[in-house]
Amino acid sequence: MSVEIYEGYGFRYVHDPETPGRIRIYLEQGPNHADMAANPERFGLERCGTRAPPFLAFGVRDKPGTITDAKRRARSWAASQRGEAHEGAGPRAGAGSRPPPPGERARVPDLGDGGPPPPAVVGVDAGRLGSCLLARVRGQDRAVAAIADEAARHTAKTQPRRPLSLFMIGTTGVGKTLAARCLAEALSAESGAGYGWLRLDMCEYQERHRVSQLLGAPQGYIGHGDGAQLTDALRRNPRTVVLFDEIEKAHPDIFRTLMNAMDVGRLSSPTVRDGNWEIDCRHALFCFTSNIDAGAIIGTLAQQGVLDDPKAIDAQCRSRLRSSSLPAELVGRITRFIPFVPITDDIRAEVAALGIQELGREYGLTVTRVAPDVTGFVLSEAGDTLFGVRPDEYLADRLLGPVFAAAARIRPGRRVAIVMKDGTPRVLDVPG
Ligand SMILES: Nc1ncnc2c1ncn2[C@@H]1O[C@H](COP(=O)(O)OP(=O)(O)O)[C@@H](O)[C@H]1O
Ligand SMILES: [Mg+2]
Repeated sequence: MSVEIYEGYGFRYVHDPETPGRIRIYLEQGPNHADMAANPERFGLERCGTRAPPFLAFGVRDKPGTITDAKRRARSWAASQRGEAHEGAGPRAGAGSRPPPPGERARVPDLGDGGPPPPAVVGVDAGRLGSCLLARVRGQDRAVAAIADEAARHTAKTQPRRPLSLFMIGTTGVGKTLAARCLAEALSAESGAGYGWLRLDMCEYQERHRVSQLLGAPQGYIGHGDGAQLTDALRRNPRTVVLFDEIEKAHPDIFRTLMNAMDVGRLSSPTVRDGNWEIDCRHALFCFTSNIDAGAIIGTLAQQGVLDDPKAIDAQCRSRLRSSSLPAELVGRITRFIPFVPITDDIRAEVAALGIQELGREYGLTVTRVAPDVTGFVLSEAGDTLFGVRPDEYLADRLLGPVFAAAARIRPGRRVAIVMKDGTPRVLDVPG
């Protein structure tokens, strides 16, 4: 699909998602822009869609035929608006043209001109996917099983109608972001297909002008041609896990865009690439995280003993989030809510031990054992778990980093155990 610019008319064509058989034209700008917005009928057009300026969305009914016919007719229509005769495939060829006759319809292919579907993936086993995730995300057994279930079902669909949308809710530092990142890795490993990974921190998308960095900027606007994080990632790989981290912070324009994508499985980008400005996002996995009201929501679910009951979780999350800053329409479009429970002391110690091994790797050491009193030492210094387990990581580096650094100086690549001796952490060599 190509875009033609006719003296001030920037054009995009798309199959109308609401009315099959109708072609929708988005006009970016043009001499009669304001006039058209006020009186579309006078121009042989019907106003459609809810898209805000700078676009005007108009439906054009076309005679039965292909999208190419419809585009040709739409071009003719544009030429007629300029008071210039235009017909045929080339922008300036031919003569004599009228607006397309109303009431006639174009044949609509399956999904715009969004390109071929991505290759099929081998079946992903929910149980194996869950185990993969649980090896990394500790203590969130129910959450991880639900994520694995949903993800496995979604990837089994060869023709999904919309992206999967998971809403991970929980207080800070309990593994929500980690779970989404691990999901992309685990899906790649289990499916044999490369899954993309994109984390979008919604704190960075609170202002309207940032929206174009997600979706692209229209022609003639600042940022046009600079690329767009979300649409570029999905163009590169339609199978991408997209994390909208801390979704409640996003600008309302982002909500609107996402709602449409979650409804019809397509994202509209103001930037055209390879002739396409619609991006197929049906194979994507959207993960939202939030800690809105999380303490109260999880607390209630735990108190009622329904953390295993998806229906009760759904009802509780939807009703609580409806009165939050999130638009009800977005909450209504979520496939599944995934509660993340607070981290218990045991899990916290387990996570801390894993974190200490990871820390050792940063210093070039292979830590084969972390003595329980070492984790105890770190956690007793860390205090409460108000911020989840994240602060424990920073503290471990401060407390154990110097010991690891000294050990690595003597012999990098050592295999070591870390133990407590006389109240201080020590590194011991491990044979092998
Ligand atoms: N359940 C968990 N299992 C393993 N590590 C965890 C868990 N929760 C948090 N962490 C550690 O804490 C860090 C921050 O967790 P994160 O997933 O970003 O929390 P949030 O729930 O706020 O998104 C992670 O990078 C990870 O190292
Ligand atoms: Mg997070």
